[in-house]
Amino acid sequence: MEGRRLLRLLFLLFATVLLLLFTLLNFPYPPSNTAEPLDCTTYSPWCTSKNRFQSKKPDLVKNPSYPTRHHHAADVPHHPLDPLTIQEFNKVRSILKSYALLENKPYALHSVVLEEPEKSVVLKWQKGDPLPPRKASVVARAEGVSHVLTVDIDTSEVTGGHEMHLSGYPPMSMEDMTSATVAPLANADFNRTIIERGIDLVDLACLPISSGWFGKTDEKRRLIKVQCYSTKDTANFYMRPIEGLTVLLDLDTKEVVEITDEGRNIPIPKAANTDYRYSSQSTHQKLKLLNPISIEQPKGPSFTIEDEHIVKWANWEFHLKPDPRAGVIISRAMVRDPETKELRNVMYKGLTSELFVPYMDPTDAWYFKTYMDAGEYGFGLQAMPLEPLNDCPRNAYYMDGVFPSADGTPYVRSNMICVYESYAGDIGWRHSECPITGMEIREVRPKVTLVVRMAASVANYDYIMDWVFQTDGVIRIKVGLSGILMVKGTPYMNMDEVNQQENLYGTLLSENVIGVIHDHYITFYLDLDVDGSNNSFVKVNLERQRTKPGESPRRSYLKAERNVAKTEKDAQVKLGLYDPSEFHVINPSKKTRVGNPVGYKVVPGGTAASLLSHDDPPQKRGAFTNNQIWVTPYNETEQWAGGLFVYQNQGEDNLAVWSERDRPIENKDIVLWYTLGFHHIPCQEDFPIMPTVSSSFDLKPVNFFESNPILGIPPNVENDLPNCNAAASV
Ligand SMILES: *[C@@H]1O[C@H](CO)[C@@H](O)[C@H](O)[C@H]1NC(C)=O
Ligand SMILES: *[C@@H]1O[C@H](CO)[C@@H](O)[C@H](O)[C@H]1NC(C)=O
Ligand SMILES: *[C@@H]1O[C@H](CO)[C@@H](O)[C@H](O)[C@H]1NC(C)=O
Repeated sequence: MEGRRLLRLLFLLFATVLLLLFTLLNFPYPPSNTAEPLDCTTYSPWCTSKNRFQSKKPDLVKNPSYPTRHHHAADVPHHPLDPLTIQEFNKVRSILKSYALLENKPYALHSVVLEEPEKSVVLKWQKGDPLPPRKASVVARAEGVSHVLTVDIDTSEVTGGHEMHLSGYPPMSMEDMTSATVAPLANADFNRTIIERGIDLVDLACLPISSGWFGKTDEKRRLIKVQCYSTKDTANFYMRPIEGLTVLLDLDTKEVVEITDEGRNIPIPKAANTDYRYSSQSTHQKLKLLNPISIEQPKGPSFTIEDEHIVKWANWEFHLKPDPRAGVIISRAMVRDPETKELRNVMYKGLTSELFVPYMDPTDAWYFKTYMDAGEYGFGLQAMPLEPLNDCPRNAYYMDGVFPSADGTPYVRSNMICVYESYAGDIGWRHSECPITGMEIREVRPKVTLVVRMAASVANYDYIMDWVFQTDGVIRIKVGLSGILMVKGTPYMNMDEVNQQENLYGTLLSENVIGVIHDHYITFYLDLDVDGSNNSFVKVNLERQRTKPGESPRRSYLKAERNVAKTEKDAQVKLGLYDPSEFHVINPSKKTRVGNPVGYKVVPGGTAASLLSHDDPPQKRGAFTNNQIWVTPYNETEQWAGGLFVYQNQGEDNLAVWSERDRPIENKDIVLWYTLGFHHIPCQEDFPIMPTVSSSFDLKPVNFFESNPILGIPPNVENDLPNCNAAASV
C-alpha cells in the first residue's frame, strides 16, 4: 500500500505524460469551459452565450474556431513535410522489430521522426503531386550502442545503422526520465538517509537531472543525477529541496553509482505560501483586479488550416508541425506580395535548435546543472497541453503532437500547439496632421497578428514559445519564461544572518530558500530563403564619420557601410551597443524597382551573452552561444546547434565547430542562427512561481517590398464590431 502511494508521488513530475499515454486518443476536445459566460445578448445576434464559441461558417475543416475532435488513427500525410502519422509510426515499429541489428535484443527508440525529403524535392513539390517516399529517421539504442537508421515506410527497407562516433548520447526517452526518478529507492542507503532527514518516503518527489560533462574522457556510460524534494503540504515541491543529496545513476542499468549525502544541517524549507494553484489560495490571497476580458471575432478568425498543417492567414502561408525535439517547426513560410499578388519565399525552415541553461553555483550539488533542454530532454516532448482561454484566447486552433514511446508505440499529445489571432490594441501604422498644416487627417490602422504558440514545462521551468506573423512581413520570435525556479536550501532565514563575504550564488527568496543565478540561451535555426535559396549575409555597420575642417558645422555623423560576409567566420557576430549594425540576408540576384537587393534582416532584441570561460566544460558544449549570430552554408545534417547527440557530449560536434570550417557563404543557400539570452538573478517576486519574463527578436523585411506592404489595409469601423457591452446593457 505504502509502496504504491510512494510510486505515485515519485511519478508526480510526469503525471501528465503518463496520463496521456494511457488515455491516448480520448482527451476531450476542446476541454469544457465552465466559466459563466457574460450575458451580452442584447446588442447583436451573434453575440449570445450560445453561439459565442462558434462562427457561422459550416466548413469544419477550414474553420479553425470549429476544430474537429481528432482521433488521429486515420490521419494520412498530405504534404512532404507532414509529420509521421499513427499508422506510419506503427509500420516503423513493426519494421524495426524484425530488423537484424535490433532483433532479439532489448532496444529503446530515442527518436522517430519524419526524415524530410531533400530540400530541392520539397521546393519542387506542388499540391496534387504524389508525395515523395515517406521515410522515418530513427535513433535506436541497443546494448549500449546508438544507431541512426532510416526506415523507408513504403518498401520496409532499413538503411544506416552505423555506430555513431560521437561522444554524446541521444535525447532521453520519457521512460528514461520516469524510471530514473524511482530507481534510487532500490538502494537501502538512499532510503535510510531520507528517513534520517525526517522525511517520510511517501512524501518524496525526485527529478532526473542531466549530468552534463566535466572533462572525463573515459566515461563510457549514460549517467544521470537524481535530486529529491518533499511534497508534504504543497504541490510546489520544488520549493522544498532536500539539499545536498545527489544520487548518480547509470541510466541504462538503473544502478546507483554513487550517493553524495551532504547538507544534512540544511532544513527543508517550509511549505507555507508555496502552493500556486488557484484552488489552494485563501480568500484573502485571491485578487479581483480586473473585469473578465476576451477578444471577440464577430466573423470568426481570419486564418484557415488546410490539410492539417498548412496555415493560411492574411498575406502569410506556412507549414506547421510539432516536433519532439524542437517543439514547433515552421516550414515554407511565404508572404504574398501586395503588388504582384504572388507568394514569395521568406523562410524554408525555422525551429528552436537548442537551449542552454547553466546555473552559476560551482558547489557539489549544483555545478552540473547546465541543461540543454532540446537535445537532452526533448523540448517538444515537454510541451504540455495548452489550456484554452488562458494559454491561448478564444477562437484558437489547437494542434496535437503524435510522438513515439520508447518501444515505438505512438501516443498523442493533445493541444500541444495553438494558432490564434492577436489584437493587443497596438497600431499597425498611423499619421495625424497637426493644426499647422490645416489638414484634417487622422489615419490609423490596427495591428493584428497571428500567433503560433507552444509552452514547454521542462520540469520546473516553463518556456512559452511564440512565432508571431505580422501583415507587414515581420516574423517576431518571442520566448517567455515562467514556471518555478530551481532553488537551493540554506540554513539562513534572513539576510541579517549572512556574512557579507559569503557567496550565496543567488538571492534569499524566502526563509531557507535561495534562488540560484542562472542563464537561459535559446538558439534558433533559421533557414531563410529570401526569394530563393541563394542568399548572402550582409552586415550593415553604422560607422562614425568625421567631417573635414570647414566642410560642415557638424563634426561627426553616421554612415552605413555594407560588408558582405564571404565565409562563415565573417558572420560570427557578437552584438555591441557601441558597434551598431544591421544584419541582412539578401538575395543578390533579385533587386527592387530602384535597384536594392531584396532582403530580410534579423533584428536582435534585448538579449544576454554567455560570460562563462570558453575552457569551462559547459561552455565548450554550449559553444553555440559564443556568438549571437552565426551563418552556415545549408547542410541538412547541421540542424541541432549543440550537435546531434547532446547528452553528456564533449562539445566536438556543434555549431561553433562547424563554423570554424569557415566555408564560403556568399550567394549560397545559407542558414542563420540566432541566440536569445537571459541572465536571471532571481528576486522575491519569482517566489513561489515566476511572473512571465519575455524577450524577442524579429525577422523584418528590408527592401523586400517595393513600399509599405500594408498601405491598403482598412481602419476599424464601429459597424463591423458589435460590442458585447455587458456592463452598459444591464
Ligand atoms: C525503499 O523504500 C521503498 C518505499 O518504502 C521500498 O519500496 C523499497 O523496497 C525500499 N528499498 C530498500 C532497498 O529497502
Ligand atoms: C545557387 O547557386 C549555385 C552555385 O553556388 C548554383 O549551382 C545554383 O544553380 C543556384 N541556384 C539557384 C536557384 O539559382
Ligand atoms: C555537412 O555536415 C556534416 C556534419 O557537420 C559534415 O560532416 C559534412 O562535412 C558537411 N558537409 C559539407 C559539404 O560541409
